[in-house]
Amino acid sequence: MSSEAEKKRVRRVFITGSSTGLGLMAGQLLAEQGHRVVLHARNDARAADARRALPAVEAAVVGDLSSIAGARHVAEQVNGLGRFDAVIHNAGVGYRERERLETEDGLSHVFAINVLAPYILTALIEKPDRLVYLSSGMHRGTNADVSDLAWRRRRWNGSEAYAESKFHDVLLAFAIARRWPSVLSNSLEPGWVPTRMGGPGAPDDMDQAHRTQAWLATSDDLGARVTGRYFYHMRERTPNPRTIDPNLQDALIAACQKLSRIALPA
Ligand SMILES: NC(=O)c1ccc[n+]([C@@H]2O[C@H](COP(=O)([O-])OP(=O)(O)OC[C@H]3O[C@@H](n4cnc5c(N)ncnc54)[C@H](OP(=O)(O)O)[C@@H]3O)[C@@H](O)[C@H]2O)c1
Repeated sequence: MSSEAEKKRVRRVFITGSSTGLGLMAGQLLAEQGHRVVLHARNDARAADARRALPAVEAAVVGDLSSIAGARHVAEQVNGLGRFDAVIHNAGVGYRERERLETEDGLSHVFAINVLAPYILTALIEKPDRLVYLSSGMHRGTNADVSDLAWRRRRWNGSEAYAESKFHDVLLAFAIARRWPSVLSNSLEPGWVPTRMGGPGAPDDMDQAHRTQAWLATSDDLGARVTGRYFYHMRERTPNPRTIDPNLQDALIAACQKLSRIALPA
């Protein structure tokens, strides 16, 4: 399909953590392509920053995703804006976190923001046509399971906590793909790029890092109309083989359900 034809199919996309970095870049790209974009920021000041950076957006919702209440509040605002065609779960905190910060719900902040929040938003936002979850190549190097999601029983390791959270993001995307056949649910790694999280020395291509999520959210290309797949730079890539284990996927959903007390709709 030509890019001209694609422009005509206007879609409504909500992007979490889009005050800066890849979330904002994906929003900019989608707005340039003529799509309707709603951004998200952790507070009013960051929402004002986001709107200054991208005045063309429809709205910017506000809420701190480190708490269950904050994630609920974000979902309520999103539902108040009407149904979306796609949601990009992009908000995240990084692999250099030196200590385990305890959230108000007694969880590690990395798990709360990177995993539990996307679970809660997935469960509470009216089902869109497409869901996209930002993972990382680092998810491949972890032997994670779901037995200590809150990092209470292990000594803190910021790099492992991040890799584990990104492993869980792939599990989440694949679990949803299995459970919700009417929704296209995929995950991706953007490459290690020099955003605030990636740091100035990151070697991968910044100009590619936001494109796959925007494409998966909106494109009519056959390659983007798939579900339960993992991508890098608009091509499928093999994820950690343990992410395709349905028992592990179900265990993560059950754990998130228990921790948040929010059920995933059938
Ligand atoms: N950059 C890379 O090399 C790389 C590699 C692999 C995967 N990724 C993934 O790509 C995604 C985006 O990363 P990025 O590099 O763009 O990071 P970034 O520049 O640090 O941006 C992260 C975004 O998430 C938001 N956020 C963080 N904590 C939040 C909270 N508690 N509540 C609400 N919003 C929150 C930030 O808001 P504030 O601006 O207010 O903090 C910001 O908008 C992440 O999921 C990351 O894991 C990045």
